[in-house]
Amino acid sequence: MKGRHLIEPGNFTIDELDKLFSLAETIMKNPDSYSEVCRGKVLATLFFEPSTRTRLSFEAAMLRLGGSTLGFAEPGASSTSKGESLADTIRTVASYVDIIAMRNPKEGAALLASQYSDVPVINAGDGGHHHPTQTLTDLLTIRTIKKKMGGLTIGLCGDLKFGRTVHSLAKAMSRYPGNRFALISPPELEIPDYIISRVFKPAGVSFSKMLRLEDVIGDLDILYMTRVQKERFFNEQDYIRLKDSYILDTEKMRLAKKDLCVLHPLPRVNEISPEVDSDPRATYFQQVKFGMYARMALITQLLGCDGGKK
Ligand code: NCD
Repeated sequence: MKGRHLIEPGNFTIDELDKLFSLAETIMKNPDSYSEVCRGKVLATLFFEPSTRTRLSFEAAMLRLGGSTLGFAEPGASSTSKGESLADTIRTVASYVDIIAMRNPKEGAALLASQYSDVPVINAGDGGHHHPTQTLTDLLTIRTIKKKMGGLTIGLCGDLKFGRTVHSLAKAMSRYPGNRFALISPPELEIPDYIISRVFKPAGVSFSKMLRLEDVIGDLDILYMTRVQKERFFNEQDYIRLKDSYILDTEKMRLAKKDLCVLHPLPRVNEISPEVDSDPRATYFQQVKFGMYARMALITQLLGCDGGKK
C-alpha cells in the first residue's frame, strides 16, 4: 500500500482492508511497539472545513507512531484566503511532508489534490461525497463488536443525502456478502440515486427505504445514526424543519435487539438522546477510539513504516 492515496473506500481491496484491520488490532493490543515506527516522518492535516475527531485523531495517530504533524484547521489560516488554488497549495505542502490528510467542502477535492501530490493524500471528507477513514473506523468497530462483516441488517438513519459517512459506509458494506440496508430518512434526505444504481444494484444488495425508525429498529444488527448536515443546506428553513426528524431514545431502544450496535460518526446534535449513552448497545464513543487505531494502521501502511518492535 506504500505511496498510495485513499480517496474513497473502493481504493482498497477487501484483502487489503483485512490486513489493515488486523494491523490496527495488533497496534491496539501493543501500542508501545509502534511508538517509533514513523519517527522522522511528517503528516500535514489540511482542514478547509471544521473537524474535532478526524483532525485530532489523525494527529494523535501520527504522534503515537513517533511522527510529527503540521497543518491548518481552517482555510482562513492558509493562502486559500488569498485566492491560491488547491493544486498550488497541495504542490507546496507535498514538498514539505511525507503524507497529507485533507478535508474540503468540495466534492472531488481530494481526488484533485491526489493528482498534484507526490506523497499519499488521504481524503478526510470531500463535501457530501466520501469520508473513507470514517469508514475504516466504522468497519473496524463492526468487525470488533460483531465479529463478522457480512450477513448484517444495517439501518442508516437521518441525513442520507448529504451525509458523506453514509455514502462511504454503504459502499464499503455492500462489498461483504449478505448485508441488507434499511434506509431511514425523510423523503427530502433520501440516499442519492447513484448509491442505489451504482453501488447497491450492481452488488445485488437488498435495501428498503422507510420513514419511521420504530418500524424497523427491531430487525437491525447495526443502527448508524447521523446528524442532519446543516452546512450543506441552501435554505435554513428546510434545515429547521428536518433537523429533529429522528431522535433515538430509550423508548425506541426497547424495541431493538439485545445485541444491536448503535454507531454514529459524531458530532451528535439531537439525534441520539444522552439517556441512550449508558445503554451497552451504544457504541459511538468506543468507535472514536477505534478511529485512531485505524488511522495509525493506515498511516504506517501508506508510508511503508512497517513492523513494530517485537
Ligand atoms: C462526520 C463528517 O465530517 O462527515 N464527522 C466525522 O468526521 N466524524 C459526520 C458529521 O459531520 O456529521
